[in-house]
Amino acid sequence: NELYAAWRTIREKKGAGKELTGWVDLPVTIDPLIIDQIESVSERLATQSQIIVVVGIGGSYLGSKAVTEALCPPLNHLVPNRHLPHIIYAGHHLSQDYHATLLEILDHYDYSVVVISKSGTTTEPAIAFRLLKAHLEKKYGQNAIASRIIAITDASKGALRSLTDQEGYDSFIVPDDIGGRYSVLTPVGLLPIALSGIDIRALLEGAAYMRQHCFNDPQKEENAAATYAWVRQALYHSGKPVEIMVNYEPQLASFGEWWKQLFGESEGKASKGIFPTTVNNTTDLHSMGQYIQEGLKVMFETVLSVNEPKKNLTIPRDKENLDNLNYLSDKTMHEVNQKAEQGTCEAHLEGKVPNIRIEIPQLTPWYIGQLIYFFEFSCAISSYMLHVNPFDQPGVEAYKDKMFRLLGKPTK
Ligand code: PA5
Repeated sequence: NELYAAWRTIREKKGAGKELTGWVDLPVTIDPLIIDQIESVSERLATQSQIIVVVGIGGSYLGSKAVTEALCPPLNHLVPNRHLPHIIYAGHHLSQDYHATLLEILDHYDYSVVVISKSGTTTEPAIAFRLLKAHLEKKYGQNAIASRIIAITDASKGALRSLTDQEGYDSFIVPDDIGGRYSVLTPVGLLPIALSGIDIRALLEGAAYMRQHCFNDPQKEENAAATYAWVRQALYHSGKPVEIMVNYEPQLASFGEWWKQLFGESEGKASKGIFPTTVNNTTDLHSMGQYIQEGLKVMFETVLSVNEPKKNLTIPRDKENLDNLNYLSDKTMHEVNQKAEQGTCEAHLEGKVPNIRIEIPQLTPWYIGQLIYFFEFSCAISSYMLHVNPFDQPGVEAYKDKMFRLLGKPTK
């Protein structure tokens, strides 16, 4: 059948875009030396920096942002007595006010820059890096800046590679056979993740564990990634072209952004594909909830459901009970959140919005590693079921052509 054929295509790496399937075996083939180097560079940068500016766009920043936010405490930047540097992103848009403010802030802190671009030619990060390089030169002097810059780029091609070699920056390589949105488990994601104090070995072990599961023959054994791909496609073909990723933990908001890019850029081609979008609940139940419940019946939901919080918080009893909340006293806030999730799923189902539920036992590196690999593998299966190449993004060039013409970029 179609699902089995798509699963075999990615399992055997023989489909469209097969030259970009290095991520399939990456959790077990990544060179241990690279992991050691990432950890030691991360320690060095953390010692010399209060802030690390990570420069990159698309697949060059979404994965690390997703993982660090999922695994660091919420409100991390305000937690007292943190010993780790703050991670700030740049070059992921072209806002002048954002970048000018960032440079003003950096006047007051010691910082280092991790610049990430596989092609080494993407406009947004290239501009941000030029600005930051000039700022570093002014602040620390021309001779001191090489120790404050790490580049992650292609082994031999692109402007960032030439600059890196010429200026003698330390660098990591983005493997040739892994595209941006599948690169979170390469140095692209692993260095910023390690800089946030997260155990990257456990993350990779989780991914390796899920890889084994995804290799199960879906005709004979349980394979959650194949099931997810199959259900999505069945819903798509029954008139549900919009998928909403739902979370009930704000730490997962950026995970939704990573997922959106993974599926949107992989599937949205040839006038086909499920439109991926996100809501952050229960916050968005008070904004988008109305539309989801009663608007156009074109949606289904995929709920990321976290079983165990890391901290305890019980709702206290109140003698006066003026807020009428004593019926909740002695319950944990998480229990209330879980009932909100359950109630929402039931209500949406009644509103003809089917939902898929993905349970995450706890937000740990091991489970997030599993989740990353699960989505990557199911995205490849799902894209092959749609008969599109999961690993290219030809449509992204259209805006660039127009923008370059408007900016008068010289043609070679
Ligand atoms: O998934 C992709 O390939 C893209 O989103 C890229 O990651 C993005 O365009 C950035 O490209 P680069 O890393 O070459 O600067």
